[in-house]
Amino acid sequence: MEIKKVCVLGAGIMGSGIAQVAAQAGFPVAMRDVEDRFVQKGLAAIKQSLDRIVSKGKMEAGEAAAVTGRVKGTTDLKEAVADADLVVEAVIEVMEVKKIVFKELDALCKPTAILASNTSGLSITEMAAVTRRPEKVIGVHFFNPVPLMKLVELIRGFVTSDETLAVSKAFVQKLGKTPIEVTEAPGFAVNRILCPMINEAIFLYSEGVASAEDIDQGMVLGANHPIGPLALADLVGLDTLLHVLDGLHCELGEDKYRPAPLLRKMVRAGYLGRKSGKGFFAYGK
Ligand code: CAA
Repeated sequence: MEIKKVCVLGAGIMGSGIAQVAAQAGFPVAMRDVEDRFVQKGLAAIKQSLDRIVSKGKMEAGEAAAVTGRVKGTTDLKEAVADADLVVEAVIEVMEVKKIVFKELDALCKPTAILASNTSGLSITEMAAVTRRPEKVIGVHFFNPVPLMKLVELIRGFVTSDETLAVSKAFVQKLGKTPIEVTEAPGFAVNRILCPMINEAIFLYSEGVASAEDIDQGMVLGANHPIGPLALADLVGLDTLLHVLDGLHCELGEDKYRPAPLLRKMVRAGYLGRKSGKGFFAYGK
C-alpha cells in the first residue's frame, strides 16, 4: 500500500509542522482543526516557516507557493479524511479526547487507511482498541520544530501490523526524515530520556542551585546541546512536558519521574513557554 493523500488533525505547532513537511514532500494534505481561527493560525505558521526557508535561499518562492497550495485547511472532519490513506492526529494530549477522535476516524476513513497518532507518550494500544482496525493504528511521533528535526519515532502498539509499520516507515523516509522503531512504552524512547533531563533542570532551578541562564549555558557549553533544557522546555511547551512526565510517573511508578512542583505551578499560572509568550524565559508576544 502506498500513501497518496494525507490528513492531519490539529493545526497547532505540531499539526501545522507535520502538514508542512508532508506538503513539502509533494503530498496533498488536508489540515483540520475544530475552529477556523485555529486553522488560519496553522496556515499562517506554515507560511511563516516557508518564508524563513525561502529567505535563507533554501527554497524558491515558487516552490513555497506550491507547498502552501497543497495544504487545504478545513474544519470539516468528513471532508478532511475523505480519500486519506494516512491520518496523523496531533490533537490535545488527553487520552479521552484521542479515543473520541480515533472512534470518529475509524467510522469515517476508508478501511485501508492507516490511523496514526503524534502523541508524545500516550498508549497507542489504548487508542487502537477503540477502533475496528487496531492493526492499522501506529504512533508516528515528530519532534518540534518539525520542519527542522530529522527524527520520527515509529511506535508499535500491541497489535500494529508489519505492513502498517513498513508503509509508515516509507512515508517518513519520503519526508526526508529518519525513523526509529520503538515498541510501545511510556514516553517511548526519546521523551523517556529527554523529559526527565529537563525535569531535573527545573528542580535545580527551583532549588536555587543556579540561575535559568546558567543552567542552560551549562548544558549548551558543557554537553554540546543546541539549546539549554529550560529553553527547550519553553519550546516543547510546559503543558506538554507536564503531560509526558505525569504519564511516565503514573505508568512507571517511580519517584525519578515525579514532575517538579514548579513545573505544575507554572502550567497552572499559564506560563506555557513560547506559545504563551512566557515560561522560564520571556518571548516577544
Ligand atoms: N521553520 C523553518 N526554519 C526554521 C524554523 C522553522 N520553524 N525554526 C528555525 N528555523 C531555521 C532558522 O531560520 C535558521 O536557519 P539558518 O541555519 O539557515 O540560519 C536555523 O533554523 C536555526 O534557527 P535559529 O538560528 O533561529 O535558532 P537555533 O540555532 O537555536 O536553532 C533549533 C533552532 C534547530 C530548533 C535548535 O534550537 C535546536 O535544535 N533545538 C533543540 C530542539 C529539540 O530538541 N527538539 C525536540 C523537542 S522534544 C519533542 O519535540 C518531543 C515531544 O514530544 C515533547
